[in-house]
Amino acid sequence: MLELEPLDQILGTRIHGANLSEPLSDDDFMVVLKALGEYGYVCFPGQALSAAQQKAFAERFGSLEINVAGSYQEPGIPEIMILSNIVENGKPIGIGDAGQDWHTDMSYSSMIAFLNVLHGIKIPRRDGKPLGGTSFANMVQAYDDLPDDIKERIEGLTATHDFNKFWEMMRREKGSSRPPLTPEQRAKKPPVVHPLVLIHPITGKKVLYANPGYAERINELSQQESDDLLRYLFEHQLQEKYQATHRWTEGDVLVWDNIGTMHNAVADYRADEPRLIKRCQVMADWILQSDLAKANGAEARFFGTH
Ligand code: SIN
Repeated sequence: MLELEPLDQILGTRIHGANLSEPLSDDDFMVVLKALGEYGYVCFPGQALSAAQQKAFAERFGSLEINVAGSYQEPGIPEIMILSNIVENGKPIGIGDAGQDWHTDMSYSSMIAFLNVLHGIKIPRRDGKPLGGTSFANMVQAYDDLPDDIKERIEGLTATHDFNKFWEMMRREKGSSRPPLTPEQRAKKPPVVHPLVLIHPITGKKVLYANPGYAERINELSQQESDDLLRYLFEHQLQEKYQATHRWTEGDVLVWDNIGTMHNAVADYRADEPRLIKRCQVMADWILQSDLAKANGAEARFFGTH
């Protein structure tokens, strides 16, 4: 039987009593789904999982994305991406700088992401303290706290999200050695449009869906108005009161909901402090067409507006 241990912060719960190397019962699956809606992220501590078992657990929640960074995949399981700063025989074994600023995964895709499922294998520590945490911000609460006139203004507006925005920001501001995207890579990831306010498929609550990583333009406004409103929304949603950080322990399986949260991989460790995490990206195809999403009106909001 699963036991929830909600954390004393704006997001996050631990779930005890699960063995994710085996399929969850239907009841336990529903408990996890509801917990994701309520808490934004869940941590299952002490999980010993093979990559194949991690994939099997993740794909219960939707189809899995195969990342464009094709060279950092688990051999034989391309749905598992390797996040790591470890270099072996002169070659990086994973992508070292993934997600190191605030963003929402796959908002640049016409089918958005639902979950990320990460398994912590090696966690950097200094003076006994874990480094390389993953921070989250609560976009349900951020929406809820917006002044009424802003809520009215953004209802019905849409934003363009572009993969290249975050990629270029990493190159420009974070000293990343990523090369610019090639025209072929850009053509594979054209900008997409999503409503600024989504309805959460699990809870039916409204969510502010505009992350600084990928949202670049509010389509119905002039350039100046769009810049001003996005600046306001980004500042609002990144207030500390909406944030919580997961501090990793080896064996953690961390699952988060990308619809109701934004996240940031905290880059506070050095190249000689190894971090190794395996990651699956679950798309929102199944959840947005589930009975739950239909009952909450989330499906119509997402598919009806673009
Ligand atoms: C990501 O999926 O954005 C990376 C998160 C992390 O490495 O903590």
